[in-house]
Amino acid sequence: MNVVVKAGTEVPDAFLNDVLSGLSRPQKAIPPHWLYDQTGSELFEQITQLPEYYVTRVEVALLEKTVAALVSDIGRGATVVEYGAGAAVKVSLLLDALEKPSAYVAIDISYGHLLEAVRGIATDYPDLSVSPVEGDFLAGAVAAELPDGGPRVGFFPGSTIGNLSDQQIHRFLTRAGSLLGHESWLLLGADLRKSSDILIPAYDDSADVTARFNKNLITRINRELSGTINIDQFAHRAIWRDDLSRIEMHLESLSDQEFSVAGQPYAMARGETIHTENSRKFTRTALQGLADRAGWRISKYVTDRQEYFALLLLTRS
Ligand code: AVJ
Repeated sequence: MNVVVKAGTEVPDAFLNDVLSGLSRPQKAIPPHWLYDQTGSELFEQITQLPEYYVTRVEVALLEKTVAALVSDIGRGATVVEYGAGAAVKVSLLLDALEKPSAYVAIDISYGHLLEAVRGIATDYPDLSVSPVEGDFLAGAVAAELPDGGPRVGFFPGSTIGNLSDQQIHRFLTRAGSLLGHESWLLLGADLRKSSDILIPAYDDSADVTARFNKNLITRINRELSGTINIDQFAHRAIWRDDLSRIEMHLESLSDQEFSVAGQPYAMARGETIHTENSRKFTRTALQGLADRAGWRISKYVTDRQEYFALLLLTRS
């Protein structure tokens, strides 16, 4: 395995900065990627198995059914670049559908995640050159050197794009374009707008797994940033914002309370919230606009029969 992990992670500082500045805003807010420590990642895996959480199930079924047709115009010897090293299940479906892929590059902010992801792929695909690259592809350009020759295929599944603002999506698509270069493709998963009767339970399940996933952020702050926050004084909230076409996750304070993080004092009133995640639900028109503005064209677009989820194959040519 060809390991080119970038050294010197600044995660503790970045987490501290995001939490201290996020708790100082009028609407308290912490960026969603901090939900994914070891426990958070395990809880997210459990979420993907919940009966109410259709997202992963529908995407994987759609990928199984359509990936061959989606990638049929992509030539042999491709380099696959996965944004956010996820469960190897999805990228395996892509690798199996491509003609003799030559390299797999996994980019992730978490080193632990990366190693797990690439180890499995390296074992399953002995002829593939496999490279983990540690980096925050949302915060800046990633120092990845892609092998020469062959088409490049970016892979961003899971509707993780739904966590991002329009501006962040624009930056992501633009940077992906410059990393992947001229003959490039981008296979994107996007969750679609649907009834709030489906959406709310998906983000507020009856087994309270999503509640634990959300509240785990408090546990992480207490452990890693010397926080004194009482987890029992917060409730999980999932709100459908129809005007913004997104599910918002919040941690709602159940009392007037005070706590500190890294020695900094904070106060919250009863009912006040910390906004922890947006999960946007797209229309085809919205996705079209986002792709266009960043210099990508939708080459193929497929959905499941209920139109819950879309897979898009973007191209720059
Ligand atoms: C991993 C970002 C796609 O937004 O559906 C699941 C995260 N949050 N339940 C999503 C999540 C609450 C998930 N993504």
